[in-house]
Amino acid sequence: MIDKKGNIIKPDFVELTRYAKQFSGLTTEKEAVLLSIKDEVSPLLGTVTDKFYDSMNDISEAASFLEGRVAALKQTHLNWMISIFTGPYNEAYTESMYNVGDTHVRVNLPVEFMSGGVTLVCNELYKIVFELYGNDSMKAHSIVDAINSAMGFSLFVMQKSYHASIDEALDKFLLITGMSEALFEKLSSSFNATRS
Ligand code: HEM
Repeated sequence: MIDKKGNIIKPDFVELTRYAKQFSGLTTEKEAVLLSIKDEVSPLLGTVTDKFYDSMNDISEAASFLEGRVAALKQTHLNWMISIFTGPYNEAYTESMYNVGDTHVRVNLPVEFMSGGVTLVCNELYKIVFELYGNDSMKAHSIVDAINSAMGFSLFVMQKSYHASIDEALDKFLLITGMSEALFEKLSSSFNATRS
C-alpha cells in the first residue's frame, strides 16, 4: 500500500505475525522443538544450502538470477536456515522475512520461486531429521511438524510482500493518473466483460 504522497506503508508486523501463525499452525511448543535440536542440526545446514544452490543452477529459469552472486547468497541463505531453528518467531522475524520477500520482488524473481525454494529446502531438512532421529518416530514426527509450520510461516510472509507490491503498483497508477479506484474498477469490469 502507498499513501497519498506516494510513500510505502508497511504492514502491521504484530498483526501479520498473528495471522501467519494461525495459517501455519506455528505454536510456542513447536518453536521450542526447533530450538531443542538447533545444536545438532546446525552443523548440517551448510549441506542443505549447497544442495539448494545446486538445484537452482539446474533450473534454467532460476540460474540466470544467480550469476556472480552464489557465494554471498549462500551465506545469507545459511543465516536464514539457522534462524529457522533459533527463532524467535516474533514481529522482528516477520519483518525480516517480509523484507526478504521485498528484495526478491525488486530483482523480479517470479513468485513461484518462493514456494519452489521452500519445498526444496524442506525436502533436504526432512532427510536430516530422519538421519538424526529416525529411530524415534514420535520425535521425528514432532520435528517434521515444527519444520513444516516454521517454513510455512516464512513462505506466507514472503509471499505477502509480493501481493503488497501488486497493490502498490495499482496505487501508484491511480496516484499518477488521478483516476479514482471506483472508476478503475468500473473500467476493469467493462474490459473483462468485453473479453468474456
Ligand atoms: C527458500 C526460499 C528463499 C529464501 C528464504 C531466500 C532468502 C534470501 C535472503 C535472506 C536474501 C538476502 C536478502 C537481503 O539481503 O535483503 C536473498 C536474496 C536473494 N535471493 Fe533468495 N531466498 C529464497 C529463494 C530464492 C530463489 C529460489 C532464488 C532464485 C534463484 C533466489 C535469489 C535471490 C537473489 C538473486 C537475491 C539477491 C537480491 C539482491 O540483489 O539483493 N532466492 N534471498
